[in-house]
Amino acid sequence: GVPPFFEPGLEERLREVVRSRRLRSTTNVHEAVMSSDVTFVTVGTPSRRDGSIDLQFIERSAEEVGRALAAKDGYHLVVVKSTVIPGTTGNIVKPIVERFSGKRCGPDFGLCMSPEFLREGSAVEDTLKPDRVVIGEFDRRSGDTLKKLFNEFYGGDIPILRTNLATAEMTKYANNSFLATKISFINSIANICDKVPGTDVEVVAKAIGMDHRINPRFLRAGLGWGGSCFPKDVKALLSFSRSLSYEAPILWAALEVNDAQPLQAVGLARRKLGSLKGRRVAVLGLAFKPDTDDIRESRATVLIDALLQEGARVIAYDPKALDASRNFLGKGIEYAESAESCLKGAECCIVATEWREFEKLQPEDFVSLMKKPVVIDGRRVFNPGDFGGKVDFAAIGLGEAPALEKD
Ligand code: UGA
Repeated sequence: GVPPFFEPGLEERLREVVRSRRLRSTTNVHEAVMSSDVTFVTVGTPSRRDGSIDLQFIERSAEEVGRALAAKDGYHLVVVKSTVIPGTTGNIVKPIVERFSGKRCGPDFGLCMSPEFLREGSAVEDTLKPDRVVIGEFDRRSGDTLKKLFNEFYGGDIPILRTNLATAEMTKYANNSFLATKISFINSIANICDKVPGTDVEVVAKAIGMDHRINPRFLRAGLGWGGSCFPKDVKALLSFSRSLSYEAPILWAALEVNDAQPLQAVGLARRKLGSLKGRRVAVLGLAFKPDTDDIRESRATVLIDALLQEGARVIAYDPKALDASRNFLGKGIEYAESAESCLKGAECCIVATEWREFEKLQPEDFVSLMKKPVVIDGRRVFNPGDFGGKVDFAAIGLGEAPALEKD
């Protein structure tokens, strides 16, 4: 009943379904398959060094489910939820399940691929109210069975799109790659704004977001996208596309912009302080986004590496991700137990994750706590109008205003 990670609203729900015995867990796949009608395969598909995905967990689960199905009478539906490159469910999962079950996909068991679109930090809400559900089906019966399950779960309120297995698999990559590209696009505009005095990418994003064809979501400029999905999925789609002799330049560009984006904050710090060597820099936020303790591919960790390379002394704080960061980043930096103690004596502060508690910080806090109140807003959490005159302020995508004073 205790999730091994932080996700808002999950612990209470998990405790409730365990207590009411609606959720039972087992490490015995055979038992799970025998006592259910549908098996969702949700194992990880991590990146290999070359960006392609590692299918070993998918293959192993297909084998285990196949072995269990060998002993089962009656129809059973297997649904791949894991993110897999187009062709995986039909060409890898299907033959493995068939081989180990001795049964035929279609008459004996069903097969679907239904991509997952939930976000960390809002996983419960996204699961209960998805924009749509995509069902990739091997045959009509498989799709009908899964549709019935989703209709019962959602009460028929959620649009369901039915297609074949490979198109469903492609949908997931296209969805994540589009959103990642959208963010890299606005970050490119931010980096141009940075060089044009008086411009503000936040206003640009607001204005273009009012165009219904663009919409305002996923248009927040900052230090780029991290997490366990966007970087992995864009790389996997690139690698897949390359294997088909297509370079996919847009995906390549989206990645390049993202790789360089944390360095924008380092550049702004240098612009304010000159050399960062020996300077005490406070980094607020380590998680890859707010409301999670996940630091995988967090832009904050890339930022911290770059700061350390410049010789800066880094002290960092995050409301939830301190433990994970201690394990991952190790001893090269100091950790603070609150935003205020992080700022104490610092000569520069960089906001790397937009936790709500950082929005409450006032310019006066930075002035009273820091040795030099240089504030770099890497996630656009502060209003430049409030901060501009009071601290030495810079932000991603905010055309440079004259600095207050320098050493
Ligand atoms: C992402 C997708 O949004 C989900 O739809 C998908 O199911 C999931 O990947 C997955 O493949 O499992 P997630 O990585 O949990 O979800 O979080 P997002 O909210 O998408 O944020 C990803 C990164 O983009 C974060 O680092 C965030 O700070 C950044 N971001 C997001 C921006 O820089 N600007 C924005 O406007 C939005």
